[in-house]
Amino acid sequence: MQGRVKSPGPVRLDRLAQIRDLSAEELERLLVRGQELSEGQPALQFRGAVATVFYENSTRTRNSFQQAGRLLGLDTLQVGREGSSIQKGETLEDTLHTLRALGAVIAAVRTPEPGVLLDLPDVGMPLVNAGDGWRQHPTQALADLLAVRLAGRAVAGARVLIVGDILHSRVARSGNDAFAMLGAKVWLAGPPTLVPQGLAASLGAEQVALEDGLRAADIVMVLRLQQERMERGYLPSLGEYRREWGLTAERLALLRSDALVLHPGPQNRGVELDEEVIYDPRSLIHRQIACGVAMRAALMEAMLDAR
Ligand code: CP
Repeated sequence: MQGRVKSPGPVRLDRLAQIRDLSAEELERLLVRGQELSEGQPALQFRGAVATVFYENSTRTRNSFQQAGRLLGLDTLQVGREGSSIQKGETLEDTLHTLRALGAVIAAVRTPEPGVLLDLPDVGMPLVNAGDGWRQHPTQALADLLAVRLAGRAVAGARVLIVGDILHSRVARSGNDAFAMLGAKVWLAGPPTLVPQGLAASLGAEQVALEDGLRAADIVMVLRLQQERMERGYLPSLGEYRREWGLTAERLALLRSDALVLHPGPQNRGVELDEEVIYDPRSLIHRQIACGVAMRAALMEAMLDAR
């Protein structure tokens, strides 16, 4: 295990729109606290509710914000695009004011549009980006960092290979930022349509050949192929994508025996990864989900404690 830092202390943040809203020191403090919470230490208790406002579907993120809220003594309020007054034209800002009036003290927001939280006026409570289009998914990155930490592995100096649909992936961008901030070297691999020229450099990462990266990486993050964000023919077929870029059972054999495998979920089995990968001892895929609860609790605890 990595060394413990004493007294995490509150992260003084009113809004987490992107990983780079945190300093490396704040990231470390949150990871220490996330580890403590994952080990059963009691969380600070608050009154009120955590609100989840999700304009896109979710299983992991929405439920883990709610579970994390319960650890903090919070009730839950839930708004989705379907079945809410969003259908009547209520804006995000008005929705958040409404939830605040109903008792919300913090809200997690997922939108298909990038950067929504950057321009949103103050709504009287902290806001967390739960995924905004292709741009950022900062709490997924926090969960992934904790999963690596709990596996007893250092991020500083690690070689992290992110494979697949980088173009459409908020997970790739927030993961790239988080791993790089803590001293990892990030490599990207994927088809030219999904890792267009210049993208790796714009992210401060390095593009590598898939099989070279698989052989050398300490951590391999496989991305979901985001077909819902593909407006035109990025790929000849899913079968060809699997053949050329999937983490198949055959490619899994290239990984080092001590490599770790991440996937943010939901997985397209038989497309970006084979079923064998999910259950391989090197896979942290299910641990990532549990870490999402601990890290969202650590983050919301810090944001609420700082108010
Ligand atoms: N990883 C992730 O964001 O999953 P959900 O879409 O199920 O929340």
